[in-house]
Amino acid sequence: MEAESRRTCRQGQFTAERTWLYLCGIVGFTGNREAQEIILDCLRRLEYRGYDSAGIAIISKGRLTLKKSIGEIAVLESQLETMSGTTGIAHTRWATHGRPTTENAHPFIDCKGEYALVHNGILTNYLPLKEQLIKRGHKFTSETDSEVLVHMIEESTAPDLKSKVLSVLKQVEGSYAIAVVRKGHDEIVAARNESPLVIGIGHDENFVASDITALLKHTNEVVYLLDKEAVRITPGGVETFDLNGVAFTRAPKKISWNIEDAERSGYPHFMLKEIFEQPRAIHESLLGRLDGQEEDNFFMGQFNSIKIIGCGTSYNAGLVGKYIIEELSKIPTTTQISSEYRYSPVTESKPLVVCITQSGETADTLAAAREAKKRGCKTIAITNVLGSAITREADFVMYTRAGPEIGVAATKTFVTQLIALYLLGLKLGTIKNAISSERYREIVSEMRALPRIVQSVLNDAGTMESLAKKYKCAQSMFFIGRHLNYPTSLEGALKTKEISYIHGEGYPAGELKHGPLALLSKDTPVVAICAADHTYEKMLGNVREVTARDSPVIAIGMEGDQDLGKYAEDVFLVPKVDSLFSPVPIIVALQLFAYYLAIERGCPIDKPRNIAKTVTVE
Ligand code: AGP
Repeated sequence: MEAESRRTCRQGQFTAERTWLYLCGIVGFTGNREAQEIILDCLRRLEYRGYDSAGIAIISKGRLTLKKSIGEIAVLESQLETMSGTTGIAHTRWATHGRPTTENAHPFIDCKGEYALVHNGILTNYLPLKEQLIKRGHKFTSETDSEVLVHMIEESTAPDLKSKVLSVLKQVEGSYAIAVVRKGHDEIVAARNESPLVIGIGHDENFVASDITALLKHTNEVVYLLDKEAVRITPGGVETFDLNGVAFTRAPKKISWNIEDAERSGYPHFMLKEIFEQPRAIHESLLGRLDGQEEDNFFMGQFNSIKIIGCGTSYNAGLVGKYIIEELSKIPTTTQISSEYRYSPVTESKPLVVCITQSGETADTLAAAREAKKRGCKTIAITNVLGSAITREADFVMYTRAGPEIGVAATKTFVTQLIALYLLGLKLGTIKNAISSERYREIVSEMRALPRIVQSVLNDAGTMESLAKKYKCAQSMFFIGRHLNYPTSLEGALKTKEISYIHGEGYPAGELKHGPLALLSKDTPVVAICAADHTYEKMLGNVREVTARDSPVIAIGMEGDQDLGKYAEDVFLVPKVDSLFSPVPIIVALQLFAYYLAIERGCPIDKPRNIAKTVTVE
């Protein structure tokens, strides 16, 4: 069983590119059978990804029927009358642009009700396109970026659906997987750019979907589309072509996964899948935000200090955030665990309060946000869930775009919280004139490189797997770091204790000698974060302090380091980055370490004992 799971785990690593996270689910079917039940069945297979609304459009002789609803697919089904027809598309939506409402659910139809379209991804230039379409008389029914596409298709004078879609895609920027149907035509045109799309080949019927999971009950023969490729499917045929309409052929692949494997895209656990989705999650969280195309729109008013609150991993992100914000904006920043906030005396005059919660539903953080308001403070929420409770409590909201996180251990939501804090720091630094234009440019370029940097850490997951085999029997471990990597050490320790049940304790490296050294012995490994920055020499001193007590040191350093190997028992190097960003690759390495420790110890990784994903009690 263990060998089995490891084999699958490697398979997961190979498929990492294909399984980066996308926020919504797409299904399309055309054949000779009634489409409605087949499509809904495929859509249900995508439920594990999380979603907040769903919709379906069916083409039947001379008609296009549409039904959308918020909530579960079961709610949609309960409202559906039989929609007869053999071609259709459907969607599950995880809201990013616009609230989770029926109006914002997909599919979208054009003004005349001739075309229906579903879209995954984010169009970065939709606003000017929408303005022009409105000027030309188009009526929009949603707040989404996606709806522009269907109105543009309506306007296109190209002769057929395929050419209309291609002409529209030439005008849009951003990420997309789309599927489009047209009244009176048994065909689906679909295309992708930076959002996955797979074609399912059946007998006298064909499919498109954002995820093979959706298709496995009906076919295991698939063709993967790559970026800037498109397809037209009919019941009897599949035509693939690039965005210039140039045809190509690609041999179908046979998929051997069962449905359960497929929900995790071949990964043995959601946690590993989510760790591997981080390059994509960072990319999505940055999309449009570094080039000013998309502003987090808030006016923060007057304040002289900042207070960051959160619980668990979100609190650890806040601790990193303190350093980020102070460095970039020079605004004094303090942090507090949400459940302690109410007990703190009101000493600062109305700080801006930043509430971090991936779920947006954590009772302690909601209570702290209310308390902050009572104290007359403005609040900003950093959350991953659109429309969650914190978004109603806070004055302003910054969304992370990690997509649904299913594993109890927070991984990609932590990293995207850091991204939000970098963006917030940049914004505050600009407002306060605390950052030179040269440093601003440097930071932007470092941030753009982060998906690649994280991918490179992931490519070295095998090394962490070996380290975990070596240290799997430890009862207790220390994690030490300084400055920005002190909170990284806390987060590494939290991940380790949460899923591997090894007692992990994060410590500021300089504090070891003030007590914890008493616990060190050859059976107590110490993970020492030795980033190539101003903390390095002192960290080397701490590493020696530890090895002198016979504790094995696992040093996390940066590429090019020649010295760590002289002192540490084991060394894991991540790519070198500007010191402000070092927590990002380093935490990814520690997540992998915690994960593989838990694998070695046979722990129930996605659902650790006694812990819930969302803690709604104080
Ligand atoms: C992290 O792995 C934990 N599951 C936990 O510490 C979590 O971060 C905490 O409960 C806060 O959750 P929130 O971000 O949804 O508020």
